[in-house]
Amino acid sequence: MNKIIVVANQKGGVAKTSTVRNLSYSLAELDKKVLTVDLDPQSNLTIGFGITPKKAKHTTGTIITRMLTEEELPENSEYIQTVGKVDILPASRALTVAEVNMLITPGSNKYLAKLLEPLREVYDYIIIDTNPSLGALTINALTACDEVIIPIDPELFAITGLNDLMDSIGKVKANLNPNIKIGGILFVKSITRTNLYKTARQNIADYFPHIPIYKSVIPLTVKVGEANSNALAVAEYEHSNPAAFAYTELAKEVAENGKNETENKIA
Ligand SMILES: Nc1ncnc2c1ncn2[C@@H]1O[C@H](COP(=O)(O)OP(=O)(O)OP(=O)(O)O)[C@@H](O)[C@H]1O
Ligand SMILES: [Mg+2]
Repeated sequence: MNKIIVVANQKGGVAKTSTVRNLSYSLAELDKKVLTVDLDPQSNLTIGFGITPKKAKHTTGTIITRMLTEEELPENSEYIQTVGKVDILPASRALTVAEVNMLITPGSNKYLAKLLEPLREVYDYIIIDTNPSLGALTINALTACDEVIIPIDPELFAITGLNDLMDSIGKVKANLNPNIKIGGILFVKSITRTNLYKTARQNIADYFPHIPIYKSVIPLTVKVGEANSNALAVAEYEHSNPAAFAYTELAKEVAENGKNETENKIA
């Protein structure tokens, strides 16, 4: 089951990067072959894998720039790095300039799709981290993917923001990527006993009754941030932490959803 997943929410700080970092680790622990793609000029995912963006010879920014100028692309092995069991295509500040140039280049919405399509053969999962905006980079990611995971932090949650994201996904589906679907909403940084969490969950169920919500809920814990700053997944940093368990459960859910789809196709 090969799948390209994008983790997106234009709201900043809702654990997009932490989710890509930890979900990719947990899927790899389930023996899945995983590539992560950093599509955020902040390069937090790259840094979270212990890679210094400035030292990376090829990054999403330099590759998209080559596509814009129609230069030949480097071999996969030159731009994909491996950290533990997970592969990563890093980002750097060059992505900011690439994004601006994409805005004025027709057809550039499909650059990431073109880059990743041949890599589907190689990986079980390709997971893309996006920046906190609905600009050219996020549209590229949505155009390239099969499925979107939307992390929601109950504390930062607003129905209007989620509506804007749903609108963008709808437009991408209509114009660029008819196969895109929402894998689910993922509650992150959550304390499930609080009214804040319960109300956010109820609001989502009321406003978006057809959107799945993952059973796994990622608990609020400083250990995720500590793991990030040590360039580790939380499961490596503190194996018994509830967030480590939750990301393992999420990986199982993501893998199970894929299985159902394969069965449906065969049936
Ligand atoms: N489960 C968690 N519990 C507590 N803090 C968390 C958790 N997950 C992530 N964080 C913290 O929340 C902050 C934002 O996380 P992260 O960088 O993953 O979000 P993001 O959505 O990628 O942000 P941006 O929009 O800037 O890219 C970080 O300080 C991170 O350590
Ligand atoms: Mg991020």
